[in-house]
Amino acid sequence: MQTIFSGIQPSGTLTLGNYLGAMQQFVQLQDENNCYFCVVDQHAITVPQDPKELRHNIRSLAALYLASGIDPEKSTLFIQSEVAAHASLAWLIQTSTYVGELERMTQYKDKSAGKESVSSALFTYPALMVADILLYQTDLVPVGEDQKQHLELTRDVAQRFNNRFGDVFTVPEIRIPKVGARIMSLQDPTKKMSKSDTNERGFISLLDEPKKIEKKIKSAVTDSEGIVKYDVKNKPGVSNLLSILSVCTGETLEALEQKYEGQGYGVFKSDVATAVIDLLTPIQERYHELINSSKLDEILDQGAVKATEVANQTYLHAKNAMGLGRK
Ligand code: AQP
Repeated sequence: MQTIFSGIQPSGTLTLGNYLGAMQQFVQLQDENNCYFCVVDQHAITVPQDPKELRHNIRSLAALYLASGIDPEKSTLFIQSEVAAHASLAWLIQTSTYVGELERMTQYKDKSAGKESVSSALFTYPALMVADILLYQTDLVPVGEDQKQHLELTRDVAQRFNNRFGDVFTVPEIRIPKVGARIMSLQDPTKKMSKSDTNERGFISLLDEPKKIEKKIKSAVTDSEGIVKYDVKNKPGVSNLLSILSVCTGETLEALEQKYEGQGYGVFKSDVATAVIDLLTPIQERYHELINSSKLDEILDQGAVKATEVANQTYLHAKNAMGLGRK
């Protein structure tokens, strides 16, 4: 049994990208591992958030974890800001993280580009992310491909800290799915699908109604060739839709290419829409049952208690190893 940690930001409603790249793996992994899944709300505030909207998004994300199949009997589900050790350890981790490393983070470059005032948290957030993972003595972090750079940093910092202060942290491995690790925007298939995209037609939200999903997929950018073929370089739009169809149905990319040979994009797009709607409908039904329930609060309260217990142990160990405090 391995210890697993992963988090998702409540920076909008979860997209199909978040689901296929991250959530789906979480659900598969929880049967045989010791899993911690987190709503990383302290990461969301590295860019401006409306407090009311943030509150809603935190609860909504927690409900979506459960609706997607996270079972509180098997996994610990909690909210980052309800476990104080995350921010506390992040401060210690900052002392082992170099400015040069932070400057190389593509997420910082992307999110700060063209902005006049950028919060210092948007620059130092990787230290918090490192702390999130290390607090649980995590063996494995299931994420989408965009998180690779963060995981490499986590490993470097954990090793650096251990070399200086003794064996405090487990050095984690990354787990990226074979297909679905990078779902692209429907409007710009060279860019990843993101929940904070200002172009709503670029992403499918897990809570989009069937009609909306159909419309978004039908207007997805493809090309004028009319050939359904997986070729990311020359046919990024079609390849993205093929990946989506493949992970939703379990059919291989090759089998799908054969199935749509000579048929153009009409039937193909309509089948992608149906597959996505079939996948999301039961999730949406469970979500609506949970979102206003007291059960959701109970699960999150219990999750916070359990996570705090484990996180505090690691934090104390790190703090003592660094010589902080009196004992
Ligand atoms: N397009 C994607 N394809 C596959 N996996 C993805 N993930 C995100 N986008 C895709 C995976 O989802 C998990 C949660 O990510 P996050 O919310 O913590 O941050 P993010 O990667 O920055 O996600 P977004 O949707 O792009 O959020 P915003 O717009 O707020 O920046 C991670 O495991 C990620 O790999």
